[in-house]
Amino acid sequence: MCAKQITKKPTQEVGTTGHSWDGIEELNNPLPRWWVWVFYLTIIWSIGYVIAYPAWPLIKGATPGLLQASTRADVQAEIDRFDAANADIKASLVAADLTAIPADKALMAYAEPAGASVFRNNCAQCHGSGAAGVQGKGYPNLLDNDWLWGGDMEAIHTTITHGIRNTMDPDARYSEMPKFGVDGLLEPAQIDAVVEHVLAISGQDHDAAKAAEGATVFADNCAACHGEQGKGDRTVGAPNLTDAIWLYGGDRATINHTVTYARFGVMPPWAARLSEDEIRAVAAYVHSRGGGE
Ligand code: HEC
Ligand code: HEC
Repeated sequence: MCAKQITKKPTQEVGTTGHSWDGIEELNNPLPRWWVWVFYLTIIWSIGYVIAYPAWPLIKGATPGLLQASTRADVQAEIDRFDAANADIKASLVAADLTAIPADKALMAYAEPAGASVFRNNCAQCHGSGAAGVQGKGYPNLLDNDWLWGGDMEAIHTTITHGIRNTMDPDARYSEMPKFGVDGLLEPAQIDAVVEHVLAISGQDHDAAKAAEGATVFADNCAACHGEQGKGDRTVGAPNLTDAIWLYGGDRATINHTVTYARFGVMPPWAARLSEDEIRAVAAYVHSRGGGE
């Protein structure tokens, strides 16, 4: 026998519970004293807890407890404190002249990080996190100097407030490129030609003879929106076709698709969902990311 000898009180001293199974009897040993005390302490603790803290469920909520403790109220108080601390700067942001905001260091110190957080929550799913750019085709990069509708504070503010081509805001920016192919406005050969012209003005490999033919098609059908030089027109959100920045794609097949079916990029309006200080903060953030004018 290597195990430690356990000394037990003889059965006669302890007594049994009177239970017996196939001759095996249950000894009636007392519970260890430390265990019994811990048990009593937990009972006392729980009574105190039930009195002090919310404990018994009611149909709505729970008994409040003497301390009126509520983590929900704690969070609300912290939010209120935060709002109160920012109330002045938010009011100044709303009162400021839009175009003066980017140069105002004090306002920007608040607007940039506040705008960044508005952006992460509301814009990044389409425009990419950090405005870093294109999440998918048709969502413009907001970091570059290439603007569809304008890159100064007022233009950005209008775009965000009302959105683009949505049906929710009657003041949304609106324009519609014709569906030259599916609506039969141009013959397939004319489309091929104008596509070569767009390749030419954007400095890509192209068929010179077709492009020359396409220049006429362009002047007649496209220049009204994209400009005679193809440099775009912000009043109708028509992109510059001469740079290497493409919203949908600048290869032959994609341009052909755009001219045949047209595009209709939609952005929701934010006036109803964001407060004016949030819209201004995110406008300042977008403006500060790079291409702001
Ligand atoms: C559901 C997708 C979506 C969301 C969300 C979205 N946008 Fe846009 N945004 C677009 C699309 C699409 C366009 C381009 C529309 C077009 O083709 O003219 C655009 C265009 C813009 C432009 C104009 C860019 C230019 O070149 O003129 C700005 C500025 C802009 N968004 C800012 C924001 C901000 C700030 C938010 C968040 C508050 C936001 N967007 C949320 C889809 C979205
Ligand atoms: C009524 C105005 C209008 C006319 C006319 C028009 N466009 Fe457009 N075009 C636009 C607008 C607006 C967009 C941007 C659409 C969007 O963002 O959804 C666009 C987009 C494009 C694009 C996509 C550019 C990119 O960055 O991916 C190409 C290419 C293009 N147009 C070529 C043409 C050609 C070629 C013609 C003539 C055959 C033409 N457009 C006529 C308004 C017009």
